Amino acid sequence: MTDGMRTAGAAGGGAAAAGAGEAPLLELTGIGKDYGAVRALEGVSLTVRAGEITCVLGDNGAGKSTLIKIVSGLHRHDAGTYRIGGEEVVLGSPREALDRGIATVHQDLAVVPLMPVWRNFFLGSELTRGRGPLRRLDVRAMRATTRDALLRMGIDLHDVDRPIGTLSGGQRQCTAIARAVHFGAKVLVLDEPTAALGVKQAGVVLKYVAAARDAGLGVVLITHNPHHAHLVGDRFVLLKRGTMAGSHAREEISLEELTRQMAGGSELEQIGHELERASLRRRDPAPDGAPEPDGVPEPDGVPEPDEVPEPDGVLGPDGVLGPHGAPGSDGKQARGGGPGGGRNPGEGGR
Ligand SMILES: Nc1ncnc2c1ncn2[C@@H]1O[C@H](COP(=O)(O)OP(=O)(O)OP(=O)(O)O)[C@@H](O)[C@H]1O
Ligand SMILES: [Mg+2]
Repeated sequence: MTDGMRTAGAAGGGAAAAGAGEAPLLELTGIGKDYGAVRALEGVSLTVRAGEITCVLGDNGAGKSTLIKIVSGLHRHDAGTYRIGGEEVVLGSPREALDRGIATVHQDLAVVPLMPVWRNFFLGSELTRGRGPLRRLDVRAMRATTRDALLRMGIDLHDVDRPIGTLSGGQRQCTAIARAVHFGAKVLVLDEPTAALGVKQAGVVLKYVAAARDAGLGVVLITHNPHHAHLVGDRFVLLKRGTMAGSHAREEISLEELTRQMAGGSELEQIGHELERASLRRRDPAPDGAPEPDGVPEPDGVPEPDEVPEPDGVLGPDGVLGPHGAPGSDGKQARGGGPGGGRNPGEGGR
């Protein structure tokens, strides 16, 4: 299926083109943030447009969550400017961000596991009927709306009465994305939505991320996985120790280069050489009676090429660095759409 994540983006491209000339949904320029003596961000810029996915990549401690906390109103920036729809703002709370159409799906998903899917879907925005003392929850409407909203995103969940805790991590992420789209978010911020997922489930979640983009939202996707980012991203912002290490449009950077930059380029090459040397030593121990070098760690945890999991037509191997971690050196690996019953993600448009 070649009409996977990117071809569907043609619709998103249309939305972006329609928005050309308008102010971006979000524009952060030269953002700085200190936690006491710790400088978490300095001079970071990020632009989010309708119908585009902006990926924020960086290693642990790079400042991704800090940046997203500023976007979603949890923290205030100390330097730089934050504009929403062209207007400069300093957000005081997550509620303020939500009122301006910025929905954030956190990694730990604030759900109540024992409550049904529909109940979680409407948490804090419950539908009611009747007035005064006769006012009660409109359970039937909430069930039906949840089912419809999920279906519009291509998620066919037969039983919305199931406790949300019985859904898989991927299904829960998809439900959270459908919820943001349903409640009219303009910007969807996803903090590492694929971090805890297997290859297949990550593919499914990325498909719904693409569906949100095609519904016209501006999406910020935080990840440390360049494979996931490159499958769906229109723009890539790389953070390194709180500063901008790069900002590229999709056509400017291949998956291989993105992976290389993420891993710090020469650092990755150095590790590659070390692993290669260790592996040669293992295959060809002590040539010509030369003494075994002591203290060289056995590269036990390094998978041989034929142990690397199959990419399944959707994704490259999760988090694997190095040559066999970068499918398609030209960055044009197969773009599978994952399951979804042939439903057009564009139908999710509201
Ligand atoms: N509440 C805090 N108080 C003090 N320092 C903090 C706080 N939160 C984050 N930091 C520091 O700010 C820097 C950036 O952290 P941040 O959590 O934004 O990184 P990250 O890119 O999200 O990392 P990860 O991939 O591990 O989630 C780190 O050095 C971190 O130790
Ligand atoms: Mg983080």
